[in-house]
Amino acid sequence: MRSLESTQFILFLAFLSFQTTSPRNLACPTCLEPLSRHGPQGFNRAAIAKSILRCQTCSKDFPSDGTFIDLTLGANRSTWQETLPIGVRLFRTKWISLIYEENWRKSFEKFGFPGPDREVELAETFLQTAVDPSRPDEENLLVDISCGTGLHSRRFAKSATFTAVVAADFSEAMLIQCHALLNEKQSPWNEKVVLVRADASRLPFASGSISAVYSGAALHCWESPSIAIAEICRVLRPGGVLVATTFLPRWKSKLQTTQKFMRLIFGTKIFFFEDELDELFETSGLVSYQKIKIDSYIMVCARKKQVPASNYGVK
Ligand SMILES: C[S@@+](CC[C@H](N)C(=O)[O-])C[C@H]1O[C@@H](n2cnc3c(N)ncnc32)[C@H](O)[C@@H]1O
Ligand SMILES: *[C@@H]1O[C@H](CO)[C@@H](O)[C@H](O)[C@H]1NC(C)=O
Repeated sequence: MRSLESTQFILFLAFLSFQTTSPRNLACPTCLEPLSRHGPQGFNRAAIAKSILRCQTCSKDFPSDGTFIDLTLGANRSTWQETLPIGVRLFRTKWISLIYEENWRKSFEKFGFPGPDREVELAETFLQTAVDPSRPDEENLLVDISCGTGLHSRRFAKSATFTAVVAADFSEAMLIQCHALLNEKQSPWNEKVVLVRADASRLPFASGSISAVYSGAALHCWESPSIAIAEICRVLRPGGVLVATTFLPRWKSKLQTTQKFMRLIFGTKIFFFEDELDELFETSGLVSYQKIKIDSYIMVCARKKQVPASNYGVK
């Protein structure tokens, strides 16, 4: 009798720790409405891994496979694949994900990239202005879009600026490696990193819900930087901040046929001419555009416009 009572008590406690919540952050990739979450409390890796995210509008579930939650339109599809540019497919291969952090990424330093510690430090000077302590924890998060193996997500998690970091990438291989590295480089901060598979062209976040977006060395890897920036602009809350880094070309001339040829082959930009980048941001709807340059490395920062309260409800 005793043991039955204690079993019931434990089950009751387990039931209490599981609950359904509807924070305004993760959203359905189809309808972009916020997902409700059934699972343990708290927005962290363990809690999300044990949660089921559900779109009430589309009646679809997005379970975690223990590594990441797939919030792309491709979730549940195995036969159908979009035709992707080589530049995107490259990063979905396992071998790149394995050599990425220690080899591929380190080679960027020859082009002026100051290295992950300094890159995160520089980004934080802009990103911390986006933190709003009056907002609930589950909404005060940083989204690291195209996180790759998570070299920056781990560092952002360690700094106390954000309550949680969503490490998002389109490549399953990168996310698997990101998960492995979070486990391998054991640190209590790593629990703050939540892994999500996401397409920069269809961000699975509710409109106006995100305080800060970071994207390291990825603008030039996207199939459509214009769509991705528009998506970032949509998901940022008014006053929210985007920090992104990319490559400027070593050779200045726009007529370089090799550069045009490379773009044609890869189907992505490979690098940005500075005037292209300026125009992309100046016409993006984001404001307060700022830049930091070190050789071929460029960091840009922009902000979602604050809407003056007096503009609401005006006919
Ligand atoms: C050069 S890596 C950058 C990784 C890391 N942020 C860094 O700073 O080293 C570019 C990343 O962009 C990702 N990517 C490419 N297309 C994407 C898309 N449509 N949506 C999200 N990520 C994408 C790739 O999978 C790859 O991990
Ligand atoms: C994936 O398939 C499962 C099982 O059929 C279903 O319950 C779930 O809603 C599907 N999710 C999506 C995003 O299609």
